[in-house]
Amino acid sequence: NTGKLWGGRFAGGPSPELDALSRSTHFDWRLTPYDLAGSKAHANVLHAAGLLTEADHVELLRGLDALGEKYAAGELHPDPSDEDVHGALERLLLVEVGPDVGGRLRAGRSRNDQVATLFRAFLRDHARVVASCVLDLVDALAGQAEQHHGAIMPGRTHLQHAQPVLLSHHLLAHAWPLLRDVQRLRDWDARVAAESPYGSGALAGSSLGLDPESVAAELGFTGSTPNSIDGTSSRDFVAEFAFVCAQIGVDVSRLAEEVILWSTKEFGFVKLHDSWSTGSSIMPQKKNPDISELARGKSGRLIGNLAGLLATLKALPLAYNRDLQEDKEPVFDSVDTLEVLLPAFTGQIATLTFNTARMAELAPQGFSLATDIAEWLVKQGVPFRIAHEVAGECVQVCEGADIELADLSDEQFAAINPALTPEVRSVLTVEGSVSSRDGRGGTAPVRVAEQLTEARAVASGH
Ligand code: ARG
Repeated sequence: NTGKLWGGRFAGGPSPELDALSRSTHFDWRLTPYDLAGSKAHANVLHAAGLLTEADHVELLRGLDALGEKYAAGELHPDPSDEDVHGALERLLLVEVGPDVGGRLRAGRSRNDQVATLFRAFLRDHARVVASCVLDLVDALAGQAEQHHGAIMPGRTHLQHAQPVLLSHHLLAHAWPLLRDVQRLRDWDARVAAESPYGSGALAGSSLGLDPESVAAELGFTGSTPNSIDGTSSRDFVAEFAFVCAQIGVDVSRLAEEVILWSTKEFGFVKLHDSWSTGSSIMPQKKNPDISELARGKSGRLIGNLAGLLATLKALPLAYNRDLQEDKEPVFDSVDTLEVLLPAFTGQIATLTFNTARMAELAPQGFSLATDIAEWLVKQGVPFRIAHEVAGECVQVCEGADIELADLSDEQFAAINPALTPEVRSVLTVEGSVSSRDGRGGTAPVRVAEQLTEARAVASGH
């Protein structure tokens, strides 16, 4: 006997090189609590099917609990000879309860349905952790939006001054994609919850009369998988999870990029808190936005995890193939990355100090009120095509004279077009501009206040 789960038909043990390649305990050991929970549920259905005596059932559950306690205490470890977490736990269970009782547990299950189930359970737990980290970030954004309600900043397109907007509106524009990510995780969870593959066996199901629905319920799933081949060999649930992680990374990196820009001397929009920024080993004056840069950098890694996983899955024939063991490290990494990144990033956002005076000063510059002139003309009955031309001429005159739109004299306005009466000045303030954009979703303070309430309601799941 080779001591493996599959020794019987082999004359000799595996080569050390194969062992080294095959081994996965260095990364899948973290699945131990989920494997033990699955084993307990499996022991229960074996007993319900009349395949375990009362005494053996009790003893198996005791042994599995004992392993769980040792694991929690940091006293349970895989052996270098163990191939994966499943094999290691069976070996340790045999030590705990003896080979006769321990050797009964594996009936009617395969590592294929085991791992497909417990990987789902692991990801479901971490989806909740990641979602709550994302909600903390949304909360930090909403808090800053609330605190700076009314502050006006230059809104940009193409990174050029476009139209003035409320800072709170801009901050909430970063919150909404994050809220959709949380919704994605909730949708994902509902889909994954419906399919516990336990009972699928290696691929074809079990002949032992075990009840997959009861295992599913015990493990917190709402149902079991309708197809045992699909249950053991599909990993779209992993890819989808990796996608949401990557999307979170992308959403965070867009905000990170802005924090990096905003904290430059040239922008001067924000000051970073000392506890959430770093210095330089040579330049004494430096204060760097490392958290945002790491966020930006790690988004690449999250995208890579998704891309690598999809490449692994592409063109795999049904059913289980060992390639599928490569499904874990990328998402473990995505989860670990986000669970470290998000709390740091949230702290940085929550402690940003905004220079709202500077933002307000820059907001009308770069002719950002030209659209307001055009729309004012439309309200005076001028066709927009003409109004756009006229407002454009105002910009041209200003550019030539190196002044801003509000600096044009009544005479200059009238010379550009007689429709430009002095009343046009009413829209040449940033306050007037933002307040006028009062349709749903617009940047008017009343609308943004409603939006903040709406965002908070979505965040709390209502
Ligand atoms: N450790 C494997 C995985 O993570 C499960 C083992 C399945 N091995 C097998 N020979 N069927 O995918």
